[in-house]
Amino acid sequence: MGLFAAKTKVIKPAKGLAGAIQFPGDKSISHRYALLGAIAEGVSEIHFFSTSADCQSTLSCLRQLGVRLERKDNVVTIQGAGLDGLRPASAPLDAGNSGSTMRMLAGILAGQPFRSVLGGDASLSRRPMKRVADPLTQMGARIQWREGGLPPLEIEGGGLRPIRYEMPVASAQVKSAVLLAGLFAEGETEVLEKARTRDHTELALEQMGADIGRHGLAIAVRGRARLDGKKLYVPGDFSSAAFFVVAGLIAPDSNLMLHNVGLNPTRTALLDVLVPMGGQVKVVSLDTINGELIGDLHVETSRLEGGEIAESAVPGLIDELPALAVLGTQTEQGLSFRGAAELRVKESDRLAAVAENLRRMGAAVEEFPDGLRVAGRQKLRGAEIDPHDDHRIAMAFAVAGLVAQGETVIKNSGCVDISFPDFFEMLSRVGSEE
Ligand code: S3P
Repeated sequence: MGLFAAKTKVIKPAKGLAGAIQFPGDKSISHRYALLGAIAEGVSEIHFFSTSADCQSTLSCLRQLGVRLERKDNVVTIQGAGLDGLRPASAPLDAGNSGSTMRMLAGILAGQPFRSVLGGDASLSRRPMKRVADPLTQMGARIQWREGGLPPLEIEGGGLRPIRYEMPVASAQVKSAVLLAGLFAEGETEVLEKARTRDHTELALEQMGADIGRHGLAIAVRGRARLDGKKLYVPGDFSSAAFFVVAGLIAPDSNLMLHNVGLNPTRTALLDVLVPMGGQVKVVSLDTINGELIGDLHVETSRLEGGEIAESAVPGLIDELPALAVLGTQTEQGLSFRGAAELRVKESDRLAAVAENLRRMGAAVEEFPDGLRVAGRQKLRGAEIDPHDDHRIAMAFAVAGLVAQGETVIKNSGCVDISFPDFFEMLSRVGSEE
């Protein structure tokens, strides 16, 4: 039995994708605005809050910690509790399927002078947490975990000291956890990144008045900080839009306008990879909102060369790699990437799940410990897809189904709710079946 409702979705080959789409608010940014709003002074009003189940997990945990918040449609209003206003939860906190909730909230809980237990679902309970527990322990929090560095985490916080932390993995969640804990420590906490990762936490901290400095791959925050509640607008989720970018490029006769998409350059490496290989995807307008870039994208069917993706690009398109592997099958030369071992510890082992499902569709794929090589110019055939309870696998293979011969059946398709509940509805709105 999977974690999600045993719904199946049938995907038929698309003749062309046409229309305009507006995406729900970015999941990564919504988590951060909610967490920071909770420890700010005063009210934060967050517009276009993500519709994802993951961000709902963050809101539920905050409620359990005594934060007063209200959600009306996609506006979330939070009465900031200040740095010292959270209250011990009466039951274990449940992060659901959300690694972002667990890791970033751990940073805040490390600053609280009480004990918290932070758990999640079966998938999250298999994901590595020592990567956050290590730096937070160095800062003075007392943290216990299950054997192997796995959740649940038991965190007894308070009395933190600042540290200088050199990150052993490229992870925005770990970076954010340390920066959030740094808000509670007297003095300067510095994080040195291994590679640049999404910088939404840094931008949000600046917006809310924290004293934060950035220099190359180093980020420093000064505690104890006072954050000010704010009215905030969340751009559309680039990682959700990415499935439509890929679909629009590989499906025949496509013409899509994607509106109000977050275009923070630490998130858009997918475009940096696709455009040089011939992808007709253009930014047609650009603006800034709360320090975040936002714009419209136009996508058309393209002849794609394919090739080898540089390892340095991987952290910037980590969530897009399953869709990119699917796209690789439709390129001239095929596509390969290495340096992506992190994909093995996401909501599923994404390297194995992509390889398995591509093979089910009849594609030739080679799996490495840290990457994949997918042959080009492949004719996919419709197959039964097992997403392994992973939203991004389900969506990537729904896109594959658009260019396959025959029907593709996505099992346990309800897992898309984790990041993008409206995915199938939006896909059928722009799709025309053969
Ligand atoms: C996220 C960071 C990435 C990403 C995840 C969201 C974030 O994880 O894969 O979907 O919001 O900070 P890591 O920090 O583990 O790389």
